[in-house]
Amino acid sequence: TPRILSGMQPTHDSLHLGNYLGAQVNWVRMQQDFDAFFCVVDQHALTVNPEPEELRRRTRVTAAQYLAGGIDPDASTVFVQSHVPEHSQLAWVLNCITGYGEAARMTQFKDKSAKRGSDGTNVGLFTYPMLMAADILLYDATSVPVGEDQRQHLELTRDLAQRFNSRYGETFVVPNGHIPEGTAKIMSLQEPTAKMSKSADNQNGNLMMLDEVKVNTKKIKSAVTDTDNEVRYDVEAKPGIANLLRIHSALSNDSIEALVERYAGENKYGALKTDVAALVAEVQAPFRARVEELLADQAELDRVLARGAERARSVAAPVLERAYAAVGFIPSG
Ligand code: TYM
Repeated sequence: TPRILSGMQPTHDSLHLGNYLGAQVNWVRMQQDFDAFFCVVDQHALTVNPEPEELRRRTRVTAAQYLAGGIDPDASTVFVQSHVPEHSQLAWVLNCITGYGEAARMTQFKDKSAKRGSDGTNVGLFTYPMLMAADILLYDATSVPVGEDQRQHLELTRDLAQRFNSRYGETFVVPNGHIPEGTAKIMSLQEPTAKMSKSADNQNGNLMMLDEVKVNTKKIKSAVTDTDNEVRYDVEAKPGIANLLRIHSALSNDSIEALVERYAGENKYGALKTDVAALVAEVQAPFRARVEELLADQAELDRVLARGAERARSVAAPVLERAYAAVGFIPSG
């Protein structure tokens, strides 16, 4: 069976609805047809220098959210990046075939380093995309389910795989992104032309999966829309309404057209918001409860992750060996 790999950074306690709809829903769908690997990328999260206690907690709570959202650890491999040393080992090799300018052109790096200044920007942020490429290439993944914001990193991964193969001989599978249609970019509720983002300044625009339902209901009720009072799907002119329609559609499985028809007429923004809030509550309430259950038995959660790491290593180690041999490292024994 073909493989997929994806991951999330444990930089916060809770996933937001963008992570859930943009990535996780597809992970759950795809785990049936693929040999699936879902990684908690704690080494990537280290680039923002969390407190050690925070990183420990967030790594576990992120893994728990993978499971709570529907990842079956018996069908898929759920693991923590730092448990599989092959990731950083391959990342080094990939660093050595990446151009400095090529890495400097990554927009996420440019944005983050512009905010922090060059002394506030650690080198881990710069080499982040090559570690991500290693995550993917180590599993011969054919497909990588992610949101729109990862497109450029995936393009780099493909370029590096092709470059390596042509320089050193066929070694890596060149992966494709699997970026969903309507949900690849869920927008902030407060600033609907910017993506919902864990690092956004205005956290009122984010729906956090682990917040209390009433907190999210309130955020949805006060979502920024427009004054035109007519429900239409127009991303340019009505980004707030378009975002609510997309969220509704993803959660209800009703088409956007059907929804526009349903909320036709004056003064239906309130009804649309009420219904979106109910749909979000419907996924969120059991999700929260399940996460709590999983965290209550930390030993069991850690066992799941240990099993996952073992399985992941059994796939990653031979691929790393292939790459090491290809570049000319002599065997260690
Ligand atoms: P991260 O942790 O920022 O986000 C996790 C996933 O959520 C998606 N996403 C969104 N989708 C729709 N709308 C949004 N507003 C939104 N915000 C985030 C992201 O696209 C992602 O799929 N670099 C990655 C983590 C990573 C990775 C990998 C992913 C490391 N190694 C290997 C895939 C394969 C990241 O920062 O995701």
